[in-house]
Amino acid sequence: MQLDLAGKNVLVTGGSRGIGRGIVLALARAGATVVTCYRSSGEAVDSLERELKNIGGDHRLVQADVSVPADVEQLIDVARTHLGRIDVLVNNAGVISHVPFAELPLEEWQRTLDNNLTGSFLVIQKALPLLPEGASVITVGSRAAVAGIPLRAHYTASKAGLIGLTRSLAKELGRRGIRVNLVAPGVIDTDEEGKLSDEERAAYAEKYQHMMALTRFGTPAEIAGAVLFLASSLSAYITGETIHVDGGM
Ligand SMILES: NC(=O)c1ccc[n+]([C@@H]2O[C@H](COP(=O)([O-])OP(=O)(O)OC[C@H]3O[C@@H](n4cnc5c(N)ncnc54)[C@H](OP(=O)(O)O)[C@@H]3O)[C@@H](O)[C@H]2O)c1
Repeated sequence: MQLDLAGKNVLVTGGSRGIGRGIVLALARAGATVVTCYRSSGEAVDSLERELKNIGGDHRLVQADVSVPADVEQLIDVARTHLGRIDVLVNNAGVISHVPFAELPLEEWQRTLDNNLTGSFLVIQKALPLLPEGASVITVGSRAAVAGIPLRAHYTASKAGLIGLTRSLAKELGRRGIRVNLVAPGVIDTDEEGKLSDEERAAYAEKYQHMMALTRFGTPAEIAGAVLFLASSLSAYITGETIHVDGGM
């Protein structure tokens, strides 16, 4: 058993920025062929395309919103044509917002559930015919799903739903040799935080860093480490699990 992902075919949702981008790049560097998707074109997509070209391999970037069934069909069509089979499926795309529960509009509740929970349902279900025996399905949840956080009831509810989805699918798909697991990040330093001013960033760090045993935020590459493990045969007997990657939160 080893971390040998050369020749593996991988689909990662939401790969243009943040954690998804870290996962895409780590998988491509490990020798996998990657199809990924995003919603908005722009510099993040262009630069990812350039980085993947430098790494080498025949990767594809597709504009597809995982909360829109027709887009998911189109994404899976590309995976079918380009990859044939999907050895590793990573459901990473997700959204977050901070709203007091009493003021949370139904539309925001639904948008969050559609992107974070229904998006994973749609992608996994449509991808099923392409998953061979031995495939690994990995979904990016959140440490917040079991911890709870004020102003994020909608987000944590959507991420907690992914735990149930993972547990049940592990049992339903296990007989096909398909493993289904969740990676639950703590606070990860992504592009979003990069948009903060130095002052805002320091205040953010002050507020949250003491919550981690390792007293720092994580990086997308550190989430990718857990994804690579779950994608490989090193984790061949692990299914239905949640791996918290949170620096000891
Ligand atoms: N960052 C953290 O601290 C943290 C902690 C716990 C869990 N997570 C989870 O990790 C995942 C990634 O988070 P992140 O912080 O890296 O987010 P991010 O920086 O906002 O990046 C999100 C990525 O997903 C794409 N995306 C979002 N919604 C999509 C959709 N409906 N369809 C297709 N692509 C979509 C975005 O593309 P566009 O720019 O085109 O929309 C972007 O490439 C999410 O599931 C999030 O809940 C993050």
